[in-house]
Amino acid sequence: MIPLASPLAQLRAHRAAVDAALARVLDSGNYVLGGEVDAFEREFSAYCGATHGVGVGSGTDALVLALKTLGIGAGDEVITVSHTALATAAAVLASGATPVLVDIEASYTLDPVRLAAAIGPRTKAVIAVHLYGQPADLDAIASITRKRGLRLIEDCAQAAGARYRGRRVGGLADIGCFSFYPTKNLGAVGDGGMVVTSDPTLAQRLRRLRQYGWDEQRRTEEPGLNSRLDPLQAAILRVKLPSLDTDNARRRTIAGMYARGLVGLPLTVPIPRRDTEHAYHLYVIATDDRDGLTEHLAAEGVGAAIHYPVPVHRHGGYGQRSIVPNDGLPDTERAVGRIVSLPMYPELSDDDVTKVIAAVRGFYTVARKGVGGAA
Ligand SMILES: Cc1ncc(COP(=O)(O)O)c(C=O)c1O
Repeated sequence: MIPLASPLAQLRAHRAAVDAALARVLDSGNYVLGGEVDAFEREFSAYCGATHGVGVGSGTDALVLALKTLGIGAGDEVITVSHTALATAAAVLASGATPVLVDIEASYTLDPVRLAAAIGPRTKAVIAVHLYGQPADLDAIASITRKRGLRLIEDCAQAAGARYRGRRVGGLADIGCFSFYPTKNLGAVGDGGMVVTSDPTLAQRLRRLRQYGWDEQRRTEEPGLNSRLDPLQAAILRVKLPSLDTDNARRRTIAGMYARGLVGLPLTVPIPRRDTEHAYHLYVIATDDRDGLTEHLAAEGVGAAIHYPVPVHRHGGYGQRSIVPNDGLPDTERAVGRIVSLPMYPELSDDDVTKVIAAVRGFYTVARKGVGGAA
């Protein structure tokens, strides 16, 4: 079996250093925030090209806190995509605001033209999701948000280390939000997240809101949450951060092998947007006989999956609370019926990549002979 992702393989590669880092935290007697979290906040925000980092409990909390910090809540609208992890919209709803869901480009990221059309009097912010590790078209998006006086948040949960026009994502908008969920490009061994910004006023408010609203003297001016990055997770993430660029380079090498190996088949491979460095959190192909292909891959022991089979606006509890354009989300609907994610993680061997390619090719060979069901 070749899994879709393997957080254990990644941990094994760093096991001795991780054990030493965990022992350091356990022996310190300091189990909430503290030096380990401070150091990781400095290291990770610098990596992203931002001046402040605030470690929080998860990527979802990072988005909720970002929205609250920007003063967004009940009565406000936040524009984002329906083709994303449910967490993006869950965070908007948790802030009290209403998600306005717009359609995607061929890169599976927010379409700036549709974004412009969806802006209304209640719109306060836009969340650009760098889905699958592909940076959204930030310059086009930011030129709209700047003109219309809107705040811009990057959802970088799937894109740690990706670059847009030479600069790493996260530091390119008002606020960047990251998840360290174990399968992410930079993964912890549990939940974790970070908010990065270069605005000191926003950073100060974020620090207060992640911890009841407390300032350094434990005085408050407004209520907050309890959402703090665990120092054990911070210590592990510090061990792994120096390898993130090498890991992402390996993901790009695997993506290149897939793209070459799948040439000539009736499917679409991801083509990185010009001027971007894709982080390939997921390697997503698209084909008309998606269900036939996933069944075949499962039978061949290849861990394929669909990210995401149901767009946000079709989820119970979300659709009714979101706004969708009158003419719908045709490109999102088309994508969700065609996408398949193939195994992608840095420890995947060349041999395994070759096996995955052979399994995909095998499906179309069988289908052409009339045994399977591909187009
Ligand atoms: C695009 C996106 N946004 C937000 C999140 C939320 O992150 P977390 O699972 O750490 O809450 C995730 C991860 O699941 C994600 O993929």
